[in-house]
Amino acid sequence: AMLDERPKPLAGRRIIVTSGPTHEPIDPVRYIANRSSGKQGHAIAAALAKLGADVRLVSGPVNIADPAGVATTHVETAVEMKEAVESLLPADAAVFVAAVADWRTANASGEKIKKVAGEGPPSLKMVENPDILAGVGHHSRRPGLVVGFAAETQDLIGNAEAKLRKKGADLIVANDVSHESGIGPSGVMGGDRNKVRIVSKSGVEEWPEMGKDEVAARLAALIAERLATIVV
Ligand code: CTP
Ligand code: CA
Repeated sequence: AMLDERPKPLAGRRIIVTSGPTHEPIDPVRYIANRSSGKQGHAIAAALAKLGADVRLVSGPVNIADPAGVATTHVETAVEMKEAVESLLPADAAVFVAAVADWRTANASGEKIKKVAGEGPPSLKMVENPDILAGVGHHSRRPGLVVGFAAETQDLIGNAEAKLRKKGADLIVANDVSHESGIGPSGVMGGDRNKVRIVSKSGVEEWPEMGKDEVAARLAALIAERLATIVV
């Protein structure tokens, strides 16, 4: 292989990334999930690794390969994702790209739930999942830089600013998923392109639409720039 001689501004930096959806079991054969291909999160993990970071990726179930040069932990549920992330602290930065299911069933059935003639569908009792980003954003071992994502169908900036504050994040990468092309191979979710705004205390920066790999490269560069100003 050719020697990679590009500068490594993130050498010696440990960065946690979450990616993909979580699956919350209903019974052994059924689950509740969010839409997420893992493409954006995995691309960010790869881009950070390219800049020399020691990247720890925690991924929910996805159909794409682990990024090269990235130590990847595979999890299924939000509770497992939270445990995996917190066991990786301390870190210099953490980037929360996963589409975590907001709720899980209160008690998943150990046996497959059977259709019973005349009984109708089961009622699922749901409970809220832990907020992994907020937990890390307010953690005693909070990384110096905490980055979240927000996919919104309305009031993109207002909602992103609220998440920034509530979750204790430094940056929120906001994307508008309101347009009908938001889902599927050509949309944000499942597609290869993304249009984001970077929301922080100092304001909102709009990035042009670009490939998810370019969003990842730009975000990795921004993270390197921000971390360079944090003294360790
Ligand atoms: N997130 C998380 N753990 C959760 C829910 C969300 O870590 N249980 C993270 C996501 O990875 C993302 C950010 O929080 O970085 C925002 O996720 P989002 O679903 O947009 O926010 P919620 O607070 O769940 O609000 P809502 O779904 O109601 O918009
Ligand atoms: Ca949510």
